[in-house]
Amino acid sequence: MRVLGIETSCDETGIAIYETGQGIVGEHIYSQVELHAIYGGVVPELASRDHIQKTLPLINQTLDECSLALSDLDGIAYTSGPGLTPALMVGASLGRSLAWALEIPAIAVHHMEAHLLIALLASPQPRLPFVALLVSGGHTMLVRVNAIGQYKVLGESLDDAAGEAFDKTAKLLGLGYPGGPEIARIATTGNLGVFSFPRPMTDKPGLNFSFSGLKTAVQTQVKALGALSDQQRADIALAFEDAIVDTLYIKCRRALESEGMSRLVLAGGVAANQRLRRRMQELDGDTFYPSLSLCTDNGAMIAYAGHERLQLGPGSNLVITTQARWSIEQIEPAAAA
Ligand code: KG4
Ligand code: ZN
Repeated sequence: MRVLGIETSCDETGIAIYETGQGIVGEHIYSQVELHAIYGGVVPELASRDHIQKTLPLINQTLDECSLALSDLDGIAYTSGPGLTPALMVGASLGRSLAWALEIPAIAVHHMEAHLLIALLASPQPRLPFVALLVSGGHTMLVRVNAIGQYKVLGESLDDAAGEAFDKTAKLLGLGYPGGPEIARIATTGNLGVFSFPRPMTDKPGLNFSFSGLKTAVQTQVKALGALSDQQRADIALAFEDAIVDTLYIKCRRALESEGMSRLVLAGGVAANQRLRRRMQELDGDTFYPSLSLCTDNGAMIAYAGHERLQLGPGSNLVITTQARWSIEQIEPAAAA
């Protein structure tokens, strides 16, 4: 079975083909980072217009490179949410319409479930059940995963997501977008202990997160210092990264303990952070994560999630649906789950 995946939920046009037994056979990602750079964040209308121009040519290019035709596809998966509505609409309408014309199933994929499922391609594979930490630009959540489609949210961010905190703090430090990789890059020349920031909500019971105060703490520090030297900027970046990593580590340890589990799966853009990946090795248990290129948004995760869902049950109905907000707990359980 061959499934085409289309990701257009934010600022990446991601196209990939997943084939049973072969894995990802073709893939393309076009990043709009330069388009949005001058605005310091993603402008939904611009994102949408760019997806319109890129999606179909990228699908054709990916098929050509695999020596495949549209008629070789058995299903088309598209990101249905959560994400930016004008951007989601492009992949959803194109994917659903193509599937209809080809008389093959379309699969409306939940973006965060796709981030999670692609981590299951890790080698060795994590066995179910496990706890997952999903950390992206829009979401931070701890989820108990019993089976594909059976998710229980154990805790989530009450305000900014972890990736959002990286992006906003990078802006404060005069760094580029997306902020996570920029902060991680300059933090490598920082000295630990020069600055220190709070580990929000770790002294209270529970598994929720709150990162907006952390950004304000950095802002207060930056204001107090005035013009920053490169070394000060690096020291602040490292202290900030350390605070986020420490907070995520403490909550993951707590979640594993409270669920009586020993397996943790990390997924989403922030799971690309090397400091976070190293720190999680200290957990009493096994940690699994996708390869670096599969952590941030891509078409492969949508193709794979669509493939897994299609193997378990039928595709979605003929309605073109997008959901800007969509709880992972409300995904329809996969048929065989
Ligand atoms: O999953 P993703 O590609 O898109 C969303 O679904 O939001 O995540 C993007 C987020 C951005 O906030 C970006 O700054 C962050 O992931 N990110 C990182 C790193 N790479 C990407 N954060 C920290 N360290 C990184 N190496
Ligand atoms: Zn994402």
